[in-house]
Amino acid sequence: MDKFRICGGRALHGTVKISGAKNSALPAMAAALLTDEPVTLHNIPKVRDIITMGRLLAFMSATVSTPEFPAESYTIESKSLNDAVAPYELVKTMRASILTLGPAIARSGVAHVSLPGGCAIGARPVDLHLAALEKMGAQIATEHGYIQARVPNGGGLKGAHIVFEKITVTGTENILMAAALAEGVTILENAAREPEITDLIHLLRKMGADIQGDDTSILRIRGVSKLHGAVHGVIPDRIEAGTFLVAGAITGGEITVANCQPAHLGAVLTKLETTGVHVDTVNPCTLRVHAAKKLVASDVTTEEYPGFATDMQAQYMALATQAEGTSVITETIFENRFLHASEMIRMGANLSVDGRRAVVRGPAHLSGTTVQASDLRASAGLVLAALVAEGETVIDRVYHIDRGYEGIVEKLQDLGADIERLHFPTS
Ligand code: EPZ
Repeated sequence: MDKFRICGGRALHGTVKISGAKNSALPAMAAALLTDEPVTLHNIPKVRDIITMGRLLAFMSATVSTPEFPAESYTIESKSLNDAVAPYELVKTMRASILTLGPAIARSGVAHVSLPGGCAIGARPVDLHLAALEKMGAQIATEHGYIQARVPNGGGLKGAHIVFEKITVTGTENILMAAALAEGVTILENAAREPEITDLIHLLRKMGADIQGDDTSILRIRGVSKLHGAVHGVIPDRIEAGTFLVAGAITGGEITVANCQPAHLGAVLTKLETTGVHVDTVNPCTLRVHAAKKLVASDVTTEEYPGFATDMQAQYMALATQAEGTSVITETIFENRFLHASEMIRMGANLSVDGRRAVVRGPAHLSGTTVQASDLRASAGLVLAALVAEGETVIDRVYHIDRGYEGIVEKLQDLGADIERLHFPTS
């Protein structure tokens, strides 16, 4: 059970190289189930969720090979896919396992995927995924904690007109993958528009899929009878890039964020500018953040892309604790995504939470203490708060952050942070 020890107060300087996007790599790996040919993926982040997805695909009898482990490149080959099962033991550690449902039922007509269950940040049901697959002809029952999905009479899925009542990222990805092999045309309305969705469309197209509507909320997929192998490099992680931009801003330093895609960070860059933080676009894949003379408070509301990402909310809260004035943070995507707030209050932050709204008054003098990480992005917010806190902070349960940030300790050390990972043997 590792912990991080951080001594705050140092301005960060230097260059950080952003890794591939976890939320693009996961659906890309699941998409390999759609074909019996090899799919090779590059720029994969070395994070725990990728290892879990690799194990899950292997459990579904795919071969998952890498030059070394963990790796930046994977070749996944799902020669056969019979009676695919995604077991609870793996699904409970990573909700994104649900991304195997669409490809498995589209390819083999059968899938048994454990229901993901609750999550710290919200109930996170998958009802929209299931309703859409039923519209495509799947019979779905949930028994003993498992989604039992099958297409009757051994047939395939059929194209359908689907309107999501709520925008869902993995729901859009599941239906995109299922529709790629369905008979006829699927129209998907109110689809998510995250860059990770467009990246998946690019991969599926390389595999032979017929999809139109990139970057829009209406996707049109004409199913094909067979998909083939492909080679694809996933996009950089915009949330990791955003996290390091805030690290530069909050510590009063200057960081060059390399190997990112500035175009994917629109709302974050706009919000940082309003707080007085200046970010230069050095070139099409490099940003440089310069600390603000004075951080100024600014309200933010999380939204689906291209709005301000909910996965940047905790990091923004850390910044708001250091900004002059009152920032109101409204979380519209998840009903319980302020677990980091009480830990920041323990560090001395002046904030209050009322349902989906947090009111942050700054600047507050933060001081180091022991805090607990509750989920992936909350952990990132606590690391940022600890970087400006006086004295030593110990962050417990950092296994959360290892799920989605590659080598964050080493990357921060290279920027001059006083941070180390403390290893504690699990009893
Ligand atoms: C994806 O989760 C990301 N995960 C999340 O990132 C991210 O926070 C989220 O999208 C929103 O941007 C991956 O891509 C692997 P949703 P997802 O379905 O797809 C409700 C991180 O930190 N909903 O878009 O699970 C749901 O409860 C993670 O990297 C239903 O009601 O999120 C939520 O309130 C955390 N029924 C809203 O929609 C459904 O069937 C959006 O959820 C599906 C979703």
